Amino acid sequence: MKEVRACIVGMGIGRPNGDALQANARGRVSALCDVVQERMDDYAKHLPEPVKTYTDYKAMCKDPEIDAVFIGTPNQWHVPVALEAVKRGKHVLITKPLADSKQAAAKLVKAAEAEGVVNMMSLSTRFGAPAQYLGNLAQQGEFGELYYARARSVRRSGIPAWNLGFIQAGGGAFRDMGVHVLDAVWWILGKPKPVSVVGVAGAKFGPFGKGYWDFSVPDKTVYKQYASDDYAGGFIRFENGLGLQVESFWASHQPGEFQIELFGTDAGATLSPLRLFRTVNGAPQDISVALPRPGEAWDAIAAHFIDCILDGKPCDAPLRHGWIVQEMMEALLQSAETGKEVRLRMADYGA
Ligand SMILES: NC(=O)c1ccc[n+]([C@@H]2O[C@H](COP(=O)([O-])OP(=O)(O)OC[C@H]3O[C@@H](n4cnc5c(N)ncnc54)[C@H](O)[C@@H]3O)[C@@H](O)[C@H]2O)c1
Repeated sequence: MKEVRACIVGMGIGRPNGDALQANARGRVSALCDVVQERMDDYAKHLPEPVKTYTDYKAMCKDPEIDAVFIGTPNQWHVPVALEAVKRGKHVLITKPLADSKQAAAKLVKAAEAEGVVNMMSLSTRFGAPAQYLGNLAQQGEFGELYYARARSVRRSGIPAWNLGFIQAGGGAFRDMGVHVLDAVWWILGKPKPVSVVGVAGAKFGPFGKGYWDFSVPDKTVYKQYASDDYAGGFIRFENGLGLQVESFWASHQPGEFQIELFGTDAGATLSPLRLFRTVNGAPQDISVALPRPGEAWDAIAAHFIDCILDGKPCDAPLRHGWIVQEMMEALLQSAETGKEVRLRMADYGA
C-alpha cells in the first residue's frame, strides 16, 4: 500500500481531520459518510477529487476501496461505527472521547486489538505543540519527579447544542472538554495508573436554557432534553502517589480558561501560556516559551496515523489510551452520582 484511502464519518470535526489526511502526501480522502447528504456535498466541494458518499456507515464499511476510517460522529456513535469498521479490517482514527461509557470503550479496544488494525485516538490537545513540548520535557526528566497536577477547561457560556448528542446522556461537559485536559495531562505525566477517583458533577445552566454557546438562547424543546453534566470536577489518585485535580465547566461565572499545571521537584509548568518555573542559584526563574512554527495538531495526527499504517510505526495514541481516560472520566461521574470514592482496578492496563 502506497497511500491511505480514508473515509471521513461525521462532517463536523471530520472536516479538519479530513483536510489533514488529504494534505498528507501519503493520504487521500476517498469517501464521506454522514446521515445528512447536504453536509457531505458541501465538504466534497472543498476536496480536490470526486468522492463517494454514504449515508449508511454499515454499507460504507463494506467498501473494499477504503483502507481507514476517521470517526467524528456524536459520542454515542463512535463505538458502533468503529466496531463495524474494525470488523471489516479498516484502520480507525477516532475523535475524543472514545465512547459514551467505559463498557463500550473496553469492548471496542478488545475488538480493535484482536483485529490487529491500527487504532488511534485523534487528540488535538495532546498532539498540539504546547502539550508535546511539555511531554517531551517530562520524558527527559526536566521536572524531576512530577507529583501533582491540575487540569481544567472552563467556559463562561459555551454549551454546544448544535447536535443533541452533546447534551443528552453520554454527552456532557466532562466527556466533551474535561477529556482534552485529562488526556493531555495524563500523557504528559507519563501515563500513570489511576487507582481512585472522587468527584462532583451537575447541571446548573443547561437545563434552564442558560450558558449556551456565545450566550445564545436555544429553543425550549432543545434544553428540555438536557440530560448530562454541564460541570464536573474531581481528584484522581495514581498508583505512584501522584495526585491530579481535574475540572470542566461548559458554563460558569468565572473567566474562561484552558489550563494544565505541573508540579515537579525540579521544575513546574503551565500549558497556556506555555511557561516553565525553576529555582536557579537560589532565585526563581520563570521562563516564557515561544514555540517556533508550532504547526497544526491535525497535521501531526494525520501524519502519525498514516506512518502507523504504511510504515508499521508503533502508535503513540492507541484507543487503549482513550479507554483508560474513559475509565477515569466515568469513575469521576460515578463518584458524583453516588457520593462515594470509586476504586479503579484495571487489571489489563497496558498503557
Ligand atoms: N478538538 C476536537 O478534537 C473536537 C472538536 C469538536 C468536536 N469533537 C468531537 O467530534 C464529535 C462530533 O462533534 P461535532 O462538533 O463535529 O458535531 P457536529 O454535529 O458538527 O458533527 C457531527 C456529524 O455527525 C453526523 N452524524 C450523526 N450521526 C451519524 C451516524 N450515525 N453516521 C454518520 N454520521 C452521523 C451528523 O449529521 C453531523 O454532520 C464529538 O464526539 C466531539 O466530542 C472533537
